Amino acid sequence: MMNEAAMAPGDNASYEGVPIQTVKAYWDARPCNIRHSKQPIGTREYFDEVEARRYMVEPHIPGFAKFERWHGKRVLEIGCGIGTDTISFARHGAQVTAVDLSTESLAVARKRAEVYGLSERIDFVQANAEELTSVVPVSAYDLVYSFGVVHHTPHPAQAVAEIRHYMSSSSELRLMVYAKNSWKRIMIDAGYDQPEAQSGCPIAYTYTRDEARRLLSGFEILTMTQAHIFPFQIERYVKYEYEVQPWFAAMPREMFRALETNLGWHLLIVARLADAS
Ligand SMILES: C[S@@+](CC[C@H](N)C(=O)[O-])C[C@H]1O[C@@H](n2cnc3c(N)ncnc32)[C@H](O)[C@@H]1O
Repeated sequence: MMNEAAMAPGDNASYEGVPIQTVKAYWDARPCNIRHSKQPIGTREYFDEVEARRYMVEPHIPGFAKFERWHGKRVLEIGCGIGTDTISFARHGAQVTAVDLSTESLAVARKRAEVYGLSERIDFVQANAEELTSVVPVSAYDLVYSFGVVHHTPHPAQAVAEIRHYMSSSSELRLMVYAKNSWKRIMIDAGYDQPEAQSGCPIAYTYTRDEARRLLSGFEILTMTQAHIFPFQIERYVKYEYEVQPWFAAMPREMFRALETNLGWHLLIVARLADAS
């Protein structure tokens, strides 16, 4: 039988009344990916390991973000968390404005920029994406990047409406939202999984491709692809041991790729303003 938490991701409308403070408290209590290393938080060893684990577990991210493409460009990142992708953009020579709701996540991300000597390249800002224009001065960025964020805010369409203000005809939006038609969602609904590493995530909207197109109305969608099925045994993964679930281990690699392409948890969208031609 489905439990209440497992049912929540399907009921998108039920999230609209969740206070933003509840969202902030959740991410402050345990910033995303904070346990990607067991080294002392804030050390270089810690940040190196967090980065290595993130791109090992989510190897599609560099290909989606195309960090190298934004050298010398302005990047606005919405929902930077502890800053793994932020650092990658900055390291590749972008000038980054990195926004997050969570003060605890931002504190770790700021420390990370210091450790790598990249503070000059990144302006960290605490803000609610739904009210971005009241905090971040409006100007056009070359890239607006948001990976796994707008589906966690009570009113994703409002966050997207704010994002538009930071885009010109030549800007690109690279957005990841959770896919409704996904292996993960099937497992959540069946009571085997939950949206995030930590339980109790207050909001996790999911999107069909049509729903994502509606969320991005007014944008021209250049590509929309699906990726990422988490393959590891969780009991071992939390101990930093990487053993693939037996049902995935038994699959030919190409079969697993086909599953990811059609049922991946990450809906990866590249878009620009519709009237941008
Ligand atoms: C799943 S984490 C992703 C973090 C980062 N993008 C990454 O991939 O590691 C979601 C992040 O979105 C942030 N977030 C949620 N709602 C937000 C909002 N309304 N405005 C800004 N950030 C928000 C959370 O604080 C959290 O850091």
